[in-house]
Amino acid sequence: MLLRRLMEAEGFVCEEAGSGDEALEILRARTFPLVLSDFHMPRMDGGELLKEIQASFPETAVVMITAVSDVNLALRCLDAGALDYLTKPFAIEEVRARVSQALEKRRLILENRAYRLELEERVVLQTRKYEELFLASLQSLADALEVKDAYTWGHSTRVQRYAIAIAQELGVSPSFTQQLELGSRLHDIGKIGVRESILNKEGSLTEAEYAHIMEHPVIGWRLLAPLLREMPHALAVVRSHHERFDGRGTPDKLQGHEIPLEARITAVADSFDAMTSGRVYRAGMSVEQAVAELRRCSGTQFDPECVAAFERAMEQQSFPRPDWAAVGAARLQIVA
Ligand SMILES: [Fe+2]
Repeated sequence: MLLRRLMEAEGFVCEEAGSGDEALEILRARTFPLVLSDFHMPRMDGGELLKEIQASFPETAVVMITAVSDVNLALRCLDAGALDYLTKPFAIEEVRARVSQALEKRRLILENRAYRLELEERVVLQTRKYEELFLASLQSLADALEVKDAYTWGHSTRVQRYAIAIAQELGVSPSFTQQLELGSRLHDIGKIGVRESILNKEGSLTEAEYAHIMEHPVIGWRLLAPLLREMPHALAVVRSHHERFDGRGTPDKLQGHEIPLEARITAVADSFDAMTSGRVYRAGMSVEQAVAELRRCSGTQFDPECVAAFERAMEQQSFPRPDWAAVGAARLQIVA
């Protein structure tokens, strides 16, 4: 009561609590910037009250009151998060100074906390913006290829969709899926470096022409390696999507599980789309025929687990066949 009278005389609005529980009750009903708390109290002592206040009302500062002889106790309270301590008996000048100091200290702490939060938010926003920009520029790269190569139009987005469906069946992590999403969209990006006359050639290719086309995984990998340092799974798709499970693929002749899972997944998705997509000079296979072909090559060209996962995904969701008239019109638009 003495303290309350002293503080009110200084212009503070005070509430008085007879116990720790009562103090918490008052704090729940109304916000207070500062609590002056005795240490020795029945039931809940000052140390416990301090802990409770810090947990439930982190913006409320606590100044402990101890006897002159209890300096160690006071120091323990400071360690536990009290902003200051007062010793009994009170000297009005000291109470006024300590309370003002504690309030000022609290103001700075809150200001600092708010500033830090704002800064963190800004960093998160900025990072997201950079990521979006980065993905958009890669997207543009993929679009550039689609304009050049009639066959690729829509191919990479469909491969992306199939690849994600397979990955989900296999229960991979979100970060893996995110990288697979990007990698499968960009898997053929190296075809940017392949001559257009060969890319769009109708009919069969000579051995040299085929070898030239099959340089695209390494060209793509070289192109993207500096950009995708933080996304190794995306990069692996680009380099290894033409590896074969039996080791007769390209460019590194990797075998079985030496081939990164993301590339084994994309190989199945890529082949399925290649088989079901029509080209100018030939119609695509039916879904049933393409699935039968995947099954026939499971264990030789493809990872059996990925083929099985693809079949399970197919049962659960239907993948509509591309509407070639719409694809042609969209392509004309982008070229124009
Ligand atoms: Fe490819």
